[in-house]
Amino acid sequence: MNFGKRQALEQRGNQLTLHFEKQDVILTILKDDIIRVLVPYWMKDYESKAIEGENAVPADFTVEETADAVIVKTSRLSLHIHDEFYMEAYDDKGHLLMSDYQGERLKKAELDQKAADLLEAEGHDSSKLNGGDYAVQTLKALAPEDCFYGLGDKSGFLNKRHYEYENWNSDLPQAHNEDFHALYKSIPFLICLRKDCVYGLFFDNTFHSYINLGKESDEYFYYGADDGNLDYYILGGETMAEVIGNYTYLTGRTPLPQLWTLGYQQSRWGYTSAKDIMEVADKYRELQIPCDVIHLDIDYMDHFKVFTWDEENYEKKGQLFDKMKALGYKPVTIIDPGTKKEDGYFMYEEGVAKDYFAKDAEGNIYVNEVWPGESVFPDFGRKEVRDWWADHHKELLDMGVQGIWDDMNEPASFRGELPMDVAFHDEDRETTHAEIHNVYGHNMSRATFAGIQKHTGKRPFVITRACYAGSQKYTTVWTGDNQSLWSHMQMLVPQLCNLGMSGFAFCGTDVGGFGADCTPELLCRWVEAACFSPLFRNHSCQGSKRQEPWQFGKDVVDINRKYIELRYRFLPYIYDLFYQGQESGLPVMRPLVLHYADDPEVRDLNGEFLVGEQILVAPVLEQGATRKMVYLPEGVWYDFWTGEKLQGRQYLLREAPIDVCPIYIKAGSIIPTYDVCQYVGEKDYTTLHLLTTPGKAEYVHFQDNGTDYAYEEGQYNLYQFTQDEAGNIKTEMLHENYPGYQDIQVETIGK
Ligand code: GLC
Repeated sequence: MNFGKRQALEQRGNQLTLHFEKQDVILTILKDDIIRVLVPYWMKDYESKAIEGENAVPADFTVEETADAVIVKTSRLSLHIHDEFYMEAYDDKGHLLMSDYQGERLKKAELDQKAADLLEAEGHDSSKLNGGDYAVQTLKALAPEDCFYGLGDKSGFLNKRHYEYENWNSDLPQAHNEDFHALYKSIPFLICLRKDCVYGLFFDNTFHSYINLGKESDEYFYYGADDGNLDYYILGGETMAEVIGNYTYLTGRTPLPQLWTLGYQQSRWGYTSAKDIMEVADKYRELQIPCDVIHLDIDYMDHFKVFTWDEENYEKKGQLFDKMKALGYKPVTIIDPGTKKEDGYFMYEEGVAKDYFAKDAEGNIYVNEVWPGESVFPDFGRKEVRDWWADHHKELLDMGVQGIWDDMNEPASFRGELPMDVAFHDEDRETTHAEIHNVYGHNMSRATFAGIQKHTGKRPFVITRACYAGSQKYTTVWTGDNQSLWSHMQMLVPQLCNLGMSGFAFCGTDVGGFGADCTPELLCRWVEAACFSPLFRNHSCQGSKRQEPWQFGKDVVDINRKYIELRYRFLPYIYDLFYQGQESGLPVMRPLVLHYADDPEVRDLNGEFLVGEQILVAPVLEQGATRKMVYLPEGVWYDFWTGEKLQGRQYLLREAPIDVCPIYIKAGSIIPTYDVCQYVGEKDYTTLHLLTTPGKAEYVHFQDNGTDYAYEEGQYNLYQFTQDEAGNIKTEMLHENYPGYQDIQVETIGK
């Protein structure tokens, strides 16, 4: 990719066009610390799927031309641009953030054909062994200390340095391990933590893309894509939190969910009848283990046809939901995009009549196989198709369904992947699967969100498997088909932390593991580790060992109850984190590096996480272990269980028998908690408990009806609690327009 020498420069408003001999580059100053870099190889006016609406905030900037460079400077960032479009970005303190690597990409030693054949013979894929060039490509210089975070749901460890990844939404049956290149989501957002500064890069391109973070070379990292533009954003920020704030400013923030969606949830593929569902529903109540949601997997449909109902096994439509509702459950049903190709089936016939399905290169409706057999695929890129799909949720919602689980939307297909030339649309523009693939789940969940909002007026609860950057505006996510493996439970921490830092504040894993067979110990440890994960759902695959807590005996039931009750106690704290996240973009579950970036001990810390800033969770993640090596960062911490006061910046060995998950509360904390309920809505929350630790503290707590948008009209309370050194707490109402608590009680630990 040669740009040649720098030539003319044009400025229009916040946009600068730099003409090079062979290619133009367009820079847009969106904010003093967000600059878009567009090399329009493909189209100048591409409309981002991740970013909606106008985001530019007028920012003063200067442009200076020297013999060697064009220097573009805002109050926070400066870019130095040279011939061949080599660019450096600096922060306002003069730290070098990003710089284009000026050398060539290394090509690995060619593999001779004989060696490649042998690898193939044993089942290895040798095609990717020799790094080739990509149609769209940019190389950035790498320093030895650079660490990388973000990238959505990618498998492996917290710090992505030394690994390579692909963005191509993929449903792969093998156990996800750290050498997986792609999973279900494409979120090409990177946080680059340098020795003494940080910045973000968001590569907005939906074609198949590649990110190599120092695996190929110690000198550079690269981003490449098969097609489209080179279109990326340089995101400044003094801290990782500010970089995340900028990224979510651009792509949107997780909206405040309904309170019950933060409750515990049970699911299984293989509840084959309404009777099965009600047995589970009754058992939770009988054992007094709180539970808010039971999911209905594809079993409830008539022959897996979406928007149908199996009246033979699942009773008359709606009847089951009445029974679930009477026990306080909120039903969530799965919906897949693959629509059965069957004459007489209303979804298929309507979609054909209206021309709503994707077509093959010859113009015939494209068919592949999914659960219902021969299936066709809605063209969700078009608004009218999304509206049609959205409205079809009405019947389920009217029957009492409270949330929708969008699955198989990579899209998954059993007879091989959809060919690249299958015809789809991006609104009115004709395009192909190659461009649409990575946003198929994004568009589907966008439609589902709109349908729920329109037909219920409540804050939609959507869970999706596949998505793209920015989908957090419409949907929560889970990490797909993990397995009941210790390594998959371990991965929960880095995977959810990276998803959170990539905008997806509301995310979770299948607790207990989806595939393979869970064990009593694994389920206990998983519930302990996940009880602070935003989406808290136990789910498993048909044919695997049943995974409800009572399948493993009384001790496991007791441990599950203990941690699920703990979750219900902390609901208002988690809810507050979502409320605050609408402003800050910060996730609920955070790696320690997010708040302690200067501490080298936490840059690669995979086994602990923070919940907000106040709670540190250090779950046991190894089979057989009854002790945990815990690292406490700077400050003073209190052991949640014993009240013991501990100094930070040290490792300690915490006894952790099977029923103990080490949890610590930061000194100077005020944490709101509720009394345990069996489900949200069982009783009114009339008492607020404040769990405090010694030290000066301030905390703002939000309270509303937990369901709809009345808070946006001002119907909520905002409490400001202040604690002085002596432990006295003062309450001030920052906003008061909702029935308040009757009582506020304080419980101090570590006194
Ligand atoms: C997919 C989903 C899984 C679901 C199954 C059946 O594998 O990832 O969660 O249970 O399909 O619908």
